Amino acid sequence: MEMPEFQFSNRHHDLMARDDEHILGWRYEPRIMFESGRGIVLTDVDGNEYFDMTAGMMCMVLGHSHPELTETIREQAGKLVHESSWYSNPWLVEFAELIAGTMPGDLEVVNFAVTGSEANEIAMRLALGVTGKYDIVSLIRGLHGGSLAAEAVTSVGGGRKAHLGPLMMPAHRNAIYAPFCYRCPINLEYPSCEVECLDRSEELMEHVTSRNVAAILAETVPVAGGMVVPPPEWLPRLRDLADRWGALLVLDEAQLAPARTGRMWGFENFGVTPDIVSFGKGMTAGFGIGGTVTTRALAEEARHKAGLPWAGTYSGDPLPAAAALKQLQIVIRDDLMARAERLGRHLGERLEALAARHESIGAVRGIGLYWLLDIVADDRTRAPDPAMAERIRYNAALEGLIHIAVKNFIRLCPPLIITEAEIDEAVDRLERAIRRAEAGFPRDFDYSSSSSLAARATT
Ligand SMILES: Cc1ncc(COP(=O)(O)O)c(C=O)c1O
Repeated sequence: MEMPEFQFSNRHHDLMARDDEHILGWRYEPRIMFESGRGIVLTDVDGNEYFDMTAGMMCMVLGHSHPELTETIREQAGKLVHESSWYSNPWLVEFAELIAGTMPGDLEVVNFAVTGSEANEIAMRLALGVTGKYDIVSLIRGLHGGSLAAEAVTSVGGGRKAHLGPLMMPAHRNAIYAPFCYRCPINLEYPSCEVECLDRSEELMEHVTSRNVAAILAETVPVAGGMVVPPPEWLPRLRDLADRWGALLVLDEAQLAPARTGRMWGFENFGVTPDIVSFGKGMTAGFGIGGTVTTRALAEEARHKAGLPWAGTYSGDPLPAAAALKQLQIVIRDDLMARAERLGRHLGERLEALAARHESIGAVRGIGLYWLLDIVADDRTRAPDPAMAERIRYNAALEGLIHIAVKNFIRLCPPLIITEAEIDEAVDRLERAIRRAEAGFPRDFDYSSSSSLAARATT
């Protein structure tokens, strides 16, 4: 079997070394330096091209350098980039109106943030302010960001919380089992289990909370925790559980909205309406603009409590607002919901076929145009194999394919403008990468700067 290697220029190597010297950050190896992007293709400083199956950090739903978006950004940069967040601007107003127009029920008021973490901080402030209670109950396997309150309700393992101390604020309990059927937390099987994981979760809440639960916070589909697409009855039953406990239901859509799941908002697939929605990533067009959507009544109830309304230095700045507005208008105009559903089905089928040919793929899970390969050491025991996932990622980059590998999970979330032919080419490249990884290549490589395995090493 042919074992190629990366051929980088001296300039590229030099940049990689300087990056290592002066920047503290997680880095996949090799530290490829990208210089430009168009559509789903990223180009490095040597002119090598890669399919970007991560849409940046899941943000570039229209791909890189979308001509209409580029024009909007260029125009806005010459007009107004930043202003005091104690004033508003036309693009922000229109963006908020458009978001409200896509929402079910009376979810119509947006408190803007810069990041997804900040959006979840606002969501928690809202819940504390509205209910006067303190506990936030979140999912085991949920991820809500890296600011410390968001970290407190995050529960994806991998040593993320090592050396962070008790993380007391907000009062939180990661007490809800994700309905992770592939490795069921209570060793039952769906559907005969009748989603007993939720009954067990409620028992846990009874034992570990103060009973003063302000909110249940969940990703609509927990992605980083293993792409846990819930069975259809799970979210409606979680909604009932929140209501029974007098808690608000907060759904974190950072990974899913807009359109990636085949619907504008991921929760539309499950027939539930939350009280609060947080968004970031895909809604941002790659700029710093996230936020929290709730009802007028809840927003008013929380006003002047818990530091609300929230505003930071960059909240709702004109440049990010104009870009995010334009992107959302294009998503709606081009019906990328339908496209994500159609092409997502195709990608899912291709990946299922791949899994049937490769024992290292234990399971394929996904929704819309967001898919995950669960990489295992043994198909029978389902033992996770993060080293193999990292090896596959390395080989995929060699093949000209960038995807996410965190722990034993490989994730594919391309821009929603990807074509069927590009999906086919991407899966072919991935299969070549898997073949080489299964043959044991590369034998040794340093992944200590990569979040996937370095994080595990500290647990
Ligand atoms: C579901 C979810 N919520 C929130 C966040 C945090 O977003 P940000 O990195 O913009 O703070 C992430 C980040 O990965 C996420 O996956």
